[in-house]
Amino acid sequence: MKLPRRFFQPLAIGAPEPLRALPVRLERMIHFIPPHLEKMRAKVPALLGEVDVVLGNLEDAIPADCKVEARRGFIRMASETEFGRTGLWIRMNALNSPWALDDLVEIVGAVGAKLDVVMVPKVEGAWDIHYVDQLLAQLEAKHGLSKPILIHAILETAEGVKNVDEIAAASPRMHGMSLGPADLAASRGMKTTRVGGGHPEYKVLSDPVPGYERRASQQDLWHYTVARMVDACQANGIKAFYGPFADFSDEAACEAQFRNAFLMGCAGAWTLHPSQIAIAKRVFVPDPAEMAFARRILAAMPDGTGAVMIDGKMQDDATWKQARVLVDLDDLVADRDGRPGASV
Ligand code: GLV
Ligand code: MG
Repeated sequence: MKLPRRFFQPLAIGAPEPLRALPVRLERMIHFIPPHLEKMRAKVPALLGEVDVVLGNLEDAIPADCKVEARRGFIRMASETEFGRTGLWIRMNALNSPWALDDLVEIVGAVGAKLDVVMVPKVEGAWDIHYVDQLLAQLEAKHGLSKPILIHAILETAEGVKNVDEIAAASPRMHGMSLGPADLAASRGMKTTRVGGGHPEYKVLSDPVPGYERRASQQDLWHYTVARMVDACQANGIKAFYGPFADFSDEAACEAQFRNAFLMGCAGAWTLHPSQIAIAKRVFVPDPAEMAFARRILAAMPDGTGAVMIDGKMQDDATWKQARVLVDLDDLVADRDGRPGASV
């Protein structure tokens, strides 16, 4: 393992210093754009006020014969657009694919100064992050970039889940991680064609009681993985995200999936369809009643120590920290939406 004092050294002569902490940014949704389609690129300027992150997707869902066009389309879109406070990301092709190297070389060369984050699919272990880390440092140095490009891993293989802690800690370039339920289901041999959400057959039955029908309760297929991902990310000061929800016709189920992720500690989710943007905006913000209570906790404990009772519930240093999480997030949302914050 690398010595701690070398962890924050640039990996190439002339590359920018790695960041010590993540930039504070609201990232409720990572909105996917297929950049080979001119019609979709044309919609991007109108999306900028609507979404927190625009991601040019180069990987799955882009046909093999459109990969080069998608990369060129992304470069065109990035050059022609002023993104302001909206993040600009790519999802590159997998590291073992014929397109991965050119994705990074061409995109960083052409529009690296505008690119915030590279999402790397099918990450299996820290070695994948180390490779992209080194290559990005060389490219940043070559093109004189002053701001390091961050790395976001997709957690979507059984091996990746096994190595999730090492992936999260692999580099100061790590921005965060997203759960990829489709590839992960395939990699694990799960018996489902769904992309995220529940499955009616994944359930527990209540005990048999004579004269009563047994109740079946559907369980959350993704609970274990989201929990592991959130712990790995938060322990390393990076962010966890829920990934895709593919049934665009079932907005209620999408909202439930996003909400579970939010409550468990995720910062946002992918939006693959415009209808999911509003869902992410509803979900990835503190609940107003919870916010009002959080504000009362902070007001009652100005220095964050001691114990007080509010509505019969005991508050102490730990609940003060819980309240802080909500108020800090509300401040970020308020800032992005241009309304006064709730900060205490
Ligand atoms: C996303 O990439 C997934 O495989 O679910
Ligand atoms: Mg995938």
